Amino acid sequence: MKIFVTGGAGYIGTHTCVELIQAGHEVIVADNLCNSKKEALDKVTEITGKGIGFYEIDVTDEKEVEKIFKENQIDGVIHFAGLKAVGESVAKPLMYYYNNLVSTMVLAEACIRHKVGRFVFSSSATVYGDNTVPFREDMNLLPTTNPYGETKAMSERILTDAASANEGFGVTLLRYFNPVGAHESGLIGENPNGIPNNLMPFVTQVAKGKREYLSVFGNDYDTVDGTGVRDYIHVVDLAKGHVKAIEKLKEGVNVYNLGTGKGTSVLELVQAFEEGNGIKVPYEICPRRPGDIASCYADASKALDELGWTAEKDIMDMVKDSWKFENGLTE
Ligand code: NAD
Ligand code: UFG
Repeated sequence: MKIFVTGGAGYIGTHTCVELIQAGHEVIVADNLCNSKKEALDKVTEITGKGIGFYEIDVTDEKEVEKIFKENQIDGVIHFAGLKAVGESVAKPLMYYYNNLVSTMVLAEACIRHKVGRFVFSSSATVYGDNTVPFREDMNLLPTTNPYGETKAMSERILTDAASANEGFGVTLLRYFNPVGAHESGLIGENPNGIPNNLMPFVTQVAKGKREYLSVFGNDYDTVDGTGVRDYIHVVDLAKGHVKAIEKLKEGVNVYNLGTGKGTSVLELVQAFEEGNGIKVPYEICPRRPGDIASCYADASKALDELGWTAEKDIMDMVKDSWKFENGLTE
């Protein structure tokens, strides 16, 4: 199939391009490079030996998107393009609502106009809010604590309504848990600008000596050791989930958790990193971070039953591949 990948120069997008190409699909990418670099796609070509059609455009721009649909016989869309920094979304809510919602609507409309029946959307476990773990796809969604999370819940709703109203337009909503790790080649991975918000990039930067210590946000949660529990998933497993999702996409609305089903606490992750890489990660216990929940992990059985997908890599693979990528960075 010819797959149009929006946000394909980003962290999850580059890994998914690799897996799509290795599964025999053709890939075209649109990205405005607001949180990525064109070089990341050159690395994808280095890994796969295959070129990628690239459009440097903003996918909220209806005219530019229309041009791409006219120039290409697209079989499916994977929509990664979006802004994702939770704190920034609180400070700049309109920017987040505009970018993340308008892009979804523009792309869905183009698909319907051009009779493209497969649309895969990057959602997030954040839509479950503070439900009881493990999170199942059929649970009622709860309000999220920030505009970023709301854009995911609203996009899910918009796409659900669009799929219900348009025969032949099928949507798969993928709820990611916590993507970490990097490609085994060490060529692509996540390299956030400025101070990382997320745990794993912070841990690798502390290990590297770029930051003095890790702040552990709270040790008084009702969890195994009091620190927050998350379902970390290797980005390559996540990417493979997208290949299955687009290949097996059925008409109507499909929802899947992409997680491992296993929760890991902050201190367990730090310990795994230290053991796996033989390097110390100094940390300090700090107050809770506003908006955080105690535990978030998936019931991952639906994706296995219906897509035949399950995560294969474990926490050791995640800490080792994250560290390998950090060490390969030049700046
Ligand atoms: P990323 O920032 O690395 O990739 C997103 C890409 O989209 C970037 O390359 C950026 O330049 C591009 N982009 C943003 N707005 C655009 C626009 N209007 N037009 C064109 N390109 C645009 O992020 P990621 O971690 O790869 O996340 C991909 C998707 O998955 C996002 O929608 C994100 O919200 C979602 N998601 C990520 C996580 C996570 O922890 N990484 C968790 C759940 C969901
Ligand atoms: N944490 C620390 N110190 C840090 C960073 C994080 O202790 O410096 C803790 C957090 O308190 C939390 C855990 O590590 O308990 C994971 O935090 P992350 O920021 O890495 O991830 P979150 O679970 O908060 O959020 C991530 C994405 C969101 C997405 C959500 C879905 O950042 O975009 O997963 O579950 F919505």
